[in-house]
Amino acid sequence: MKKLQLQRYSAGQRSNHWAVVTCFVLAAVSGFALFHPALFWLTALVGGPQWARILHPYLGIAMFVLFLGLFFAFAGANVWRKEDSQWLGSAGKLISEGNAAQMPPIGKYNGGQKLVFWLFALCLIVLLVTGALFWQAWFAPSVPIWLQRIAVVLHALAAFGLVLTVIVHAYAAIWVKGTVQAMTRGTVSAGWARHHHPLWYRDQVQGRSAKAPSK
Ligand code: HEM
Repeated sequence: MKKLQLQRYSAGQRSNHWAVVTCFVLAAVSGFALFHPALFWLTALVGGPQWARILHPYLGIAMFVLFLGLFFAFAGANVWRKEDSQWLGSAGKLISEGNAAQMPPIGKYNGGQKLVFWLFALCLIVLLVTGALFWQAWFAPSVPIWLQRIAVVLHALAAFGLVLTVIVHAYAAIWVKGTVQAMTRGTVSAGWARHHHPLWYRDQVQGRSAKAPSK
């Protein structure tokens, strides 16, 4: 018998997500290539050194603009609540003991996912603003050099933060069995939803029965 599946993401949201991921990978590869001579070989993956330098800022802008689509779609579900602080407080125990029953019941996203969401937004804003300040082709000539120097350091720190956050995000998605299919097929099993996001599950099931034709 086929397990009951619940819709978590539309096709548009999934395309938006994977377009952001594509830009992220290309911007990270070209960015690392420019960051340190030891990583210069990475330029070969984006068409050579000139292309790495030309494309990197545009890939960053594309990632930022595409992320806005995810941001406006999911910001509401990521608003911070006091249960999220409690959830984060017990997350260490969840990881070491795997005892999900002790965790406060959560809606569409848990405290860890919400933290990741806001870190994505923060890092991307810092990357966009600081990157513009030392973008030689456009704005850098009219920005004082001391400001460009600060911007370069903040840009590298935000990039480092974004890469770490993406690693945590992707690792958690793979670690929690049944999550990746939310972003590939758009659906999750009812068991997954009831176990990991009980309040969201309840809303989904109530919504379904409200929509079911009355006999
Ligand atoms: C290879 C890397 C990635 C993988 C495997 C991955 C996987 C996933 C999965 C499975 C979900 C659904 C989680 C759920 O519904 O509980 C998700 C949601 C999401 N992902 Fe990713 N993702 C990756 C990279 C990224 C990147 C680079 C960004 C943005 C910078 C991003 C932003 C988001 C956002 C905003 C959501 C919506 C959920 C939320 O608001 O927390 N992802 N991702």
